[in-house]
Amino acid sequence: MDAFLAIASRRDERRYLSEPLPEATVTRILDAGRLSGSSKNRQPWTFVLPSSRRRVDALADVVWVPENVRSAGLVVAIVVPGGSGAFDAGRAAQNMLLAAWNDGVASCPNGVRDAEGARAALSLQGEEEVVIVLSFGRPGKARDPESRDAAEWSARANRRPLADVVRSVA
Ligand SMILES: Cc1cc2nc3c(=O)[nH]c(=O)nc-3n(C[C@H](O)[C@H](O)[C@H](O)COP(=O)(O)O)c2cc1C
Repeated sequence: MDAFLAIASRRDERRYLSEPLPEATVTRILDAGRLSGSSKNRQPWTFVLPSSRRRVDALADVVWVPENVRSAGLVVAIVVPGGSGAFDAGRAAQNMLLAAWNDGVASCPNGVRDAEGARAALSLQGEEEVVIVLSFGRPGKARDPESRDAAEWSARANRRPLADVVRSVA
């Protein structure tokens, strides 16, 4: 898929078909995160995958919309050392979300409601903290990116107009 079409057509999904994702797709999503740039190339992230039902449910209990995580085919918690690396984590997150969409996989970032609970749910060590929990899965309601061109997706997006978000300073 064209990169701009992927950006323009992607939306966050909160309901998934309950099927696991192919291993090759999971690897590509994680590799897209790994490839992200970061400040001084420090790559401060660890991508923690809760891989048992018990761990997924424990993590679901500490985000704002538990069902989003419970129904996912893949859950990735982006973990960084306390108080640093949030911007880098955001770059890795967006790379993973877009790589997934390129493979027809929907996704949503999930804010953490209970930071200590999230650390416990994933047995994190020391200063580690969860910046965001990404859920991925086959979309419950399929949307075909190729059904519109990028300009049309852009015009339909529920976003502030460009003129509102861009300001030139001479
Ligand atoms: C940092 C961050 C945290 C978010 N947390 C949640 C969340 O806890 N639950 C949720 O359903 N969506 C969450 N979202 C998704 C936003 O609600 C979504 O990006 C926004 O509404 C735009 O949605 P759209 O792409 O479908 O238009 C989060 C997004 C970001 C960037």
